[in-house]
Amino acid sequence: MTMRHDGAKRTKHRRLLQWVDEMAQLCTPERIYWCDGSQEEYDRLCDEMVQSGTFIRLDPEKRPNSFLARSHPSDVARVEDRTFICSQRAEDAGPTNNWMPPAEMRARLNDLFTGCMRGRTMYVIPFSMGPLGSPIAHIGVEITDSPYVVVNQRIMTRMGQAVLDVLDDDGEFVPCMHSVGAPLETGEVDVPWPCAQSIEDKYISHFPETREIWSYGSGYGGNALLGKKCFALRIASVMARDEGWLAEHMLILGVESPEGHKRYVAAAFPSACGKTNFAMLIPPPAFAGWKVTTVGDDIAWIKPNPADGKFYGINPEYGFFGVAPGTNEKSNPNAVATLHANVIFTNTALTDDGDVWWEGLTDEPPEHLIDWQGRDWTPGCGRPAAHPNSRFTAPAGQCPSIDPDWENPKGVPIDAFLFGGRVSKNFPLVYQAYNWEHGVYIAATMGSEATAAAIGQASMRRDPMAMLPFCGYNMAQYWRHWLRIGRLQVTAPPPIFRVNWFRKDNHGRFIWPGFGENMRVLKWVIERCEGRAPAVESPIGWLPGWEGLLWEGIEFKRADFFEIMNIDKEKARQETNEQEELFTRFGDHLPREMELQREMQLARLYHSPEVWDLSRT
Ligand code: OXD
Ligand code: MN
Repeated sequence: MTMRHDGAKRTKHRRLLQWVDEMAQLCTPERIYWCDGSQEEYDRLCDEMVQSGTFIRLDPEKRPNSFLARSHPSDVARVEDRTFICSQRAEDAGPTNNWMPPAEMRARLNDLFTGCMRGRTMYVIPFSMGPLGSPIAHIGVEITDSPYVVVNQRIMTRMGQAVLDVLDDDGEFVPCMHSVGAPLETGEVDVPWPCAQSIEDKYISHFPETREIWSYGSGYGGNALLGKKCFALRIASVMARDEGWLAEHMLILGVESPEGHKRYVAAAFPSACGKTNFAMLIPPPAFAGWKVTTVGDDIAWIKPNPADGKFYGINPEYGFFGVAPGTNEKSNPNAVATLHANVIFTNTALTDDGDVWWEGLTDEPPEHLIDWQGRDWTPGCGRPAAHPNSRFTAPAGQCPSIDPDWENPKGVPIDAFLFGGRVSKNFPLVYQAYNWEHGVYIAATMGSEATAAAIGQASMRRDPMAMLPFCGYNMAQYWRHWLRIGRLQVTAPPPIFRVNWFRKDNHGRFIWPGFGENMRVLKWVIERCEGRAPAVESPIGWLPGWEGLLWEGIEFKRADFFEIMNIDKEKARQETNEQEELFTRFGDHLPREMELQREMQLARLYHSPEVWDLSRT
């Protein structure tokens, strides 16, 4: 029996209507609701969630139209252990993904989803990743039983009736199926944050061949807002491979020089490396006339444009789902300004006057708070007030540094790629790859430090292109795709850089001040793109000398600069040798170029003259 709903009034898309009917039959919700994306709908759902206890309305003067949600303490982050790539063949998922045969996963999902929306509303959310109708954008439809997901999706994506209109009666869409996995029995009172009881019942599953997402058991972030990591990275990376483009875990920022030249940089950093801060950077006063603008802070979709042979990128998202702790007037004034109104906070602390607080927002914490679990909190009580992964969901358009072209359907031309990990020793602040193949190699081998306490040695936790948890297919095939696209699809691929803001001295203190001062590195990058900045050749790439960066307005010693640029050859050889471990995991899938680049780097590290000592340049 099909349930009544007004889908047929909203769209003539037969496949979509049929899918919604099938999903309703499987999940047996109480009712079906098609989201129109209006403000009225958003306000109504928020009001309902205030009524039900999922939302707390913040003080309308201090934080207009904003809410706080507290998740269940077992549902606070993406669950990578429970994330699956269900390709037909295990080797197509590759050694870095959890794999399950599609038939087996489908059987499990079928059991889990059967009747899973009992007593709940099934919401149908048509959404566009990217500006509506842009040739770089793609459409998804999320079915969910979570009103929290609906209102977040309205901030994070372009959502509602306008998307159905673009989809027309036969457009392509990625079906994104989501349930919190907590059916309500007759008479059962709902909890503020329903989710599956046990972690083993959570499944964030992707079917790359059929381009489908099925997520069960979690209501939080990337597990539930399926446009973001699931669609825009895992499924889109597969679409990008098949169609000749790039879906990347990258921010995009614009840099305008005092002469009015505009350049765009796409930059990949692993989670928790300050991407949002970098995307919203404010240049220090010495950079009078320079302007940095934000296109996106987390994901970039980049397509080659045959008309001019360049890469053009969009931010497929419409909002920021940023980590709150550490965000403040000093680290990111633009983010603080973005959060003035119309924000959903999740798992931050609540102040006595109806506002939010998190660690690092102010130097001094308030004298009393309600913590992220709803308990009384006072300074020194030994618990964090906000969850370390507490988040804000905020409209990107509210960001003071938003780029004037951030909604340009054509995208913005990408002039450089940056890749950065978190390395405390022996890794320079910045260097440039010799060429595209070398750049792909240094991006593929990037990582952050994991201290192996047993041997007292730092070793790298590899995170190739910052895509380790997000690549929807075999990582080695993804490198092959990168190698090909730079050579075949664009006239001259953009230069590639590695950066590292996180070098520490012998006392464990960061040497580089970071934040706005990263502008100094950015300026060198831009000038390298324009062939204007000097560089020193080294066995690992092109480095800036002291003269390469602008030092006006900062007390940064020459000796400290040499310290953060210096590389110990022996340690660099060791690191290059260790990369073999990563490469051998991929067997025959590894592109030969990767191993050749590694060998060449080793050869340079053995045989090159001593060029490390930049102080001699
Ligand atoms: C994110 C992440 O939340 O990368 O953006 O984990
Ligand atoms: Mn991210």
